[in-house]
Amino acid sequence: MNCNHALVFGGTGMLLEATGWIAEHVNHTVVFGRNRQRLERLSNQYGEHGLKVQELDYSSTDSLKQQIIHAYEENGEIDLVVAWIHSTAPDAIPTIKGQIAALQRHHHWTLVLVKGSSSHLNSITTIEQDIPVNCTVKEVQLGFIYNGGTSRWLNHHEISEGVIAGIQSKKRKIVVGTLEPWEKRP
Ligand SMILES: NC(=O)c1ccc[n+]([C@@H]2O[C@H](COP(=O)([O-])OP(=O)(O)OC[C@H]3O[C@@H](n4cnc5c(N)ncnc54)[C@H](OP(=O)(O)O)[C@@H]3O)[C@@H](O)[C@H]2O)c1
Repeated sequence: MNCNHALVFGGTGMLLEATGWIAEHVNHTVVFGRNRQRLERLSNQYGEHGLKVQELDYSSTDSLKQQIIHAYEENGEIDLVVAWIHSTAPDAIPTIKGQIAALQRHHHWTLVLVKGSSSHLNSITTIEQDIPVNCTVKEVQLGFIYNGGTSRWLNHHEISEGVIAGIQSKKRKIVVGTLEPWEKRP
């Protein structure tokens, strides 16, 4: 993967394994989160791979903008953003898109959006609009495992594997597990 600088939002919990994979494949990875212990654990594990952590509540639009600018000034143009953003912060994705577009008008970057919900299929399948010039958006839609009889949610490893596949894939959208039949979800 030809990538110098990546930002990861929502990567300190279930996505931990994928965040580690990104750190191993990218020169500069900045991981954002609120929980200092989770951030420190990542920093201890992957600091030698150039991973840095930054405390941030992404529901604060001003802080989010400032931290993107700071990462850009520290590590240069941003090549990859992986974002698993909760629905409680509806302004976060537009802010990420707008701020990066304003900083780097001529540099191509990829935005990988991770989408999961236990109740709202629409929030998973609604395709992202308003894509900035020079940006490729890929969506990783998290479903569930259904064997025709019983079903279960994806585990952490399966979620991370799906996100890594999404980063590597040329496809606009990948579904991890299945979203159908939605009424058979756990
Ligand atoms: N489809 C499936 O099989 C499946 C399986 C499991 C879960 N899910 C869904 O996945 C969703 C996420 O679950 P979870 O929250 O328990 O996941 P988690 O991975 O444990 O935590 C969420 C991640 O987002 C970060 N985060 C959350 N709010 C933030 C904020 N305001 N600012 C900065 N970072 C923030 C957290 O960092 P901090 O801790 O530092 O805030 C953490 O990195 C749920 O909606 C669940 O239903 C789906």
